[in-house]
Amino acid sequence: ALERTFSIIKPDATNRNLTGAINSLFEKNGLRIVAQKRIQMTTAQAETFYAVHSARPFFGELVEFMTSAPVVVQVLEGENAVLKHREVMGATNPSEAAEGTVRKEFALSIGENSVHGSDSLENAAIEIAQFFAGNEIVG
Ligand code: CMP
Repeated sequence: ALERTFSIIKPDATNRNLTGAINSLFEKNGLRIVAQKRIQMTTAQAETFYAVHSARPFFGELVEFMTSAPVVVQVLEGENAVLKHREVMGATNPSEAAEGTVRKEFALSIGENSVHGSDSLENAAIEIAQFFAGNEIVG
């Protein structure tokens, strides 16, 4: 089915000027960028976004990292977009990511892993709504 998923190009990638290279991989794999903006995430936004990880030992580091430089938040649309995006991103840990994936090509570590993607259609809707108004998404 035609789906929308939520994507973030993270600070390690924006710092290295990789926005276009990552978008190119998304587009080559059939994902259409139907909304996109570059923002400086606030601590409150990052804490809310990653609330599910708040008990993890890396939570503080994660919030610190996500607010350390601009990020690019996106809505990607395509057939089975949630799963397709996760496939194009590759495994969370770049040392386990498959050849040709964003994280294999670009990620630096499990924390500085260049991209975020929603893990389900339900979470995609929640995450999209945290960063985009309906009229900012143009399919
Ligand atoms: P993301 O898909 O954005 O969702 C949660 C993030 O936590 C994940 O990507 C990783 O970047 C980060 N993360 C997961 N495990 C660790 C870890 N052991 N140390 C630091 N960051 C982590």
